[in-house]
Amino acid sequence: MQDHTRREFLALTAAISAAGLVAPEGFGLRMASAQDAKPTSVGSGAGATPGKVVRIGLVGCGGRGSGAANDSLTANPNVKLVAMADIDLAKAKAARDALKEAHGERVDVTDERIFGGLDGYQKICDLKDVDLVLLATAPGFRPIHIAAAVGAGKHVFAEKPVCVDTAGYHICCAAHDLAAKQGTAIVTGTQYRRQPSFIEGIKRIREGMIGDVVGMTARYCSNGIWYRERQPGMSDMEYQIYNWMHFIWLSGDQIAEQAVHNIDIIHWVMGGPPTRCFASGSRWNRPADSEMWDSVSCDFEWANGKICSFTGRHWPNSDNQLDNVVYGSKGVAYLRAFDSGTQIYDHSGKELFSIKGNLGAAYRQEHKELVESIVAGKPIVELRQTAESSMMAVMGREAAYSGQIATWDFMTTKSKLDLMPKLVQIPGDAPAPFVRKPGEYRLQ
Ligand SMILES: NC(=O)c1ccc[n+]([C@@H]2O[C@H](COP(=O)([O-])OP(=O)(O)OC[C@H]3O[C@@H](n4cnc5c(N)ncnc54)[C@H](O)[C@@H]3O)[C@@H](O)[C@H]2O)c1
Repeated sequence: MQDHTRREFLALTAAISAAGLVAPEGFGLRMASAQDAKPTSVGSGAGATPGKVVRIGLVGCGGRGSGAANDSLTANPNVKLVAMADIDLAKAKAARDALKEAHGERVDVTDERIFGGLDGYQKICDLKDVDLVLLATAPGFRPIHIAAAVGAGKHVFAEKPVCVDTAGYHICCAAHDLAAKQGTAIVTGTQYRRQPSFIEGIKRIREGMIGDVVGMTARYCSNGIWYRERQPGMSDMEYQIYNWMHFIWLSGDQIAEQAVHNIDIIHWVMGGPPTRCFASGSRWNRPADSEMWDSVSCDFEWANGKICSFTGRHWPNSDNQLDNVVYGSKGVAYLRAFDSGTQIYDHSGKELFSIKGNLGAAYRQEHKELVESIVAGKPIVELRQTAESSMMAVMGREAAYSGQIATWDFMTTKSKLDLMPKLVQIPGDAPAPFVRKPGEYRLQ
């Protein structure tokens, strides 16, 4: 039996709160922890340490967690993987063995340093010789894991999205401030930010190649996503975490879980979050117990009246489209997904700029920059930016679910949205799945 009790959750944010970086009140479970908190200590990573070997702990050993560890080991000759955790211990061990086969002695994870269960992340954060923690579980746990790792003075790599609700957003903002204050790094899994086709394209947009930016379209439209059938003997909680994509408290729905990449591009191009969002969507195609919608479309609006539109859908047998288009007074920029690169045209159709993309390199580049920043003693701290992009996705989702216009001010200063169940334990109960219906469901 594995427990993850309310008491443990409360302890997780204590370090952040203790640093005087308390999020707004009213978040009950995850934010009610300030009084008993003790000061944090900075871990082993702070300060310039040329030649240092950076020792990594991985939390969440699925496809991306293993991929992130592999990317870091591939990009950095001076890292070692020394600890791993996953709810499923067998999965963690299998990932360890595969990584060891690829990277030999640089994967040095003995059975004593590989943890199963819900509290494995805490055991990794407690290891004094771990410098950097990679976080790649189901997204709902991310703010808690970030809080624990930053609170323990670790450098962090956090996969996207970094939050799926308002409570998680505030934890991330507080963690960002604490990391900046104590000199520890946080890089996030928004790899387009490290892909030259996006960097160079957005640089040229900023330099005026398409004139004034008047708006933007972003799309994450694909054929679907995995669904993991319940296995015999699983409790409700075990099943929901296993099939996490389909439960909003764990994944945040498609708009947060997948499309945050595109929404982050909107955030990047526009230089920050919007003031409000009008959204719509549908659900007709999901398995019966899935809480996900099939589609969400949003108009994000800025104070100057500019609108950026997002369309997301999982429709079987439909055309995939994951590109971003920025409209300017003098031209149009296509910031395309994966390896398709960026092309910029004037309004006559003349090509002004073109560059190829390389997504695989971007996945490695984020780990290279992270580790280099740690060794140089100039830690990159970029959590707030990704927290804002993740919160934009939450804002769009909530606007669609409710049919109400969601403002940034409401979502970030008044909303009490906190999706984490009060008690998470395995075996255990889980919140009954439900599909949000506009008109019935309200912004909260
Ligand atoms: N940046 C990218 O392009 C990219 C690509 C794929 C996935 N991701 C992100 O990576 C994360 C993981 O995705 P994935 O595809 O690897 O999923 P996955 O289901 O393959 O792996 C998740 C793993 O986390 C474990 N887990 C879940 N909750 C846990 C907890 N509380 N403690 C310990 N282990 C836990 C699961 O057992 C599983 O092994 C997601 O946030 C996803 O959005 C990012």
